[in-house]
Amino acid sequence: MTTTLISGGTVVSATGRAAADVLIDGERIVAVIEPGTALLGTDVAASVDRVIDATGKYVIPGGIDAHTHMQLPFGGTEASDTFETGTRAAAHGGTTSIIDFAVQSYGQRIEDGLAAWHEKASGNCAIDYGFHQIVGDVNADSLAAMKRLPDEGISSFKLFMAYPGVFYSDDAQILKAMQVSRETGLLTMMHAENGPAIDVLAQQLVDAGNTDPYYHGIARAWEMEEEATHRAIMLAKLTGAPLYVVHVSAKQAVEQLAWARDKGQNVFGETCPQYLYLSLEDQLGASSDEWGAFEGAKWVCSTPLRSRAEGHQHSMWQALRTNDLQMVSTDHCPFCMKDQKELGLGDFRKIPNGIGSIEHRMDLMYQGVVTGEITLERWVELTSTTPARMFGLYGRKGVIQPGADADVVVYDPNGHTSIGYGEGRTHHMNMDHSAWEGYEIDGHVDTVLSRGKVIVDGDRYLGAKGDGKYLKRGLSQYLI
Ligand code: URP
Ligand code: ZN
Ligand code: ZN
Ligand code: ZN
Repeated sequence: MTTTLISGGTVVSATGRAAADVLIDGERIVAVIEPGTALLGTDVAASVDRVIDATGKYVIPGGIDAHTHMQLPFGGTEASDTFETGTRAAAHGGTTSIIDFAVQSYGQRIEDGLAAWHEKASGNCAIDYGFHQIVGDVNADSLAAMKRLPDEGISSFKLFMAYPGVFYSDDAQILKAMQVSRETGLLTMMHAENGPAIDVLAQQLVDAGNTDPYYHGIARAWEMEEEATHRAIMLAKLTGAPLYVVHVSAKQAVEQLAWARDKGQNVFGETCPQYLYLSLEDQLGASSDEWGAFEGAKWVCSTPLRSRAEGHQHSMWQALRTNDLQMVSTDHCPFCMKDQKELGLGDFRKIPNGIGSIEHRMDLMYQGVVTGEITLERWVELTSTTPARMFGLYGRKGVIQPGADADVVVYDPNGHTSIGYGEGRTHHMNMDHSAWEGYEIDGHVDTVLSRGKVIVDGDRYLGAKGDGKYLKRGLSQYLI
């Protein structure tokens, strides 16, 4: 077993920062010590196998991205990152655990959907991985199967109020699933958009000749997100289910969450980097020489990018500060332009929904520290500590303390990261473009350890496919 000392750095947690050395034995952190201390009379640095010099750098718990979709079949194609390529890109970006969504498709049994997801991931991941369960067909059989999910290490499931004919659940199905949520402690995760109403608006836009990606954002109006968020909250209130709303982008949806939380309801929300930085006007409405107005397809995702003129991005940052939103995940769901996004040329409804960001979440959120949107501690909390607590991994993940897995990132605040797909840029995701081309970050992921093994050193990948193990999760540590 290798012993490692990460010395000279500033250890940052959700609650503070301190100059400290981190001692690792094998896969675990065994001590967080005052710099230079002799432990039981021995000079620690001299007695370990390896010293990582973190002078002038931050030492943080590895990122946990609790919302990813590797190899998701969607819109007649499949998300372009495999568990292998997506988790390797995650590692480069300082993320050491993901929670991906196992899919139960309509007409399929949950057990079969879950088994298929294990098949895709097992032996392929660069970092540790867990699953949420998408329930795409709420029926008597799946309601019974949901009750067995905790035995599989799955403590959360996702329902969709959007995508009729694909993953959609109606209110009756949601109510029944939430009753199971209440009974078992499984966290209900909700894609909150009024899908049937959106489909009508989208059809009307297409009929009127408005087929460009921009109209994806018009059809999926914020009112549709606010309404669905409110409905999910009320159904959760009625049933007593704990609720976690995914990929929140509308400021009015945040107001609903804040309202419910102020009334004492167990309701949580996440947003994603795209809703903090990107917009309806600048991205969905973009045009290029190569693609014309179809350029915007790169940013077609649901919920959609919102209008900057309406101030949604500003409100998302604010909600992260006030804790009306508790987490930042990516909703990583990449599709190439060629052969994938292209399916929607001439009809925005056929553009596969999703953006690839898994590699950049830690950097993009760190840039929020640089620009004064969030504190250093909040950065760690939003990207690692809260995801661990929310999804039953805390103690093992999400914190630098004795007994925790040695998932550690050494982050250099004096480094620089140029994000993008083009020449000299950092992209490792399996995509033919970047949704983040040209973004510059005043920081850099220097060293990444996954359970004590250095998997990224500088820009070199030192890990191997299969390093990542399946994470059996406990119930959310936010629930009483
Ligand atoms: O556009 C998105 N978000 N694609 C992934 C599926 C989902 O709804 O999370
Ligand atoms: Zn969704
Ligand atoms: Zn998603
Ligand atoms: Zn780099």
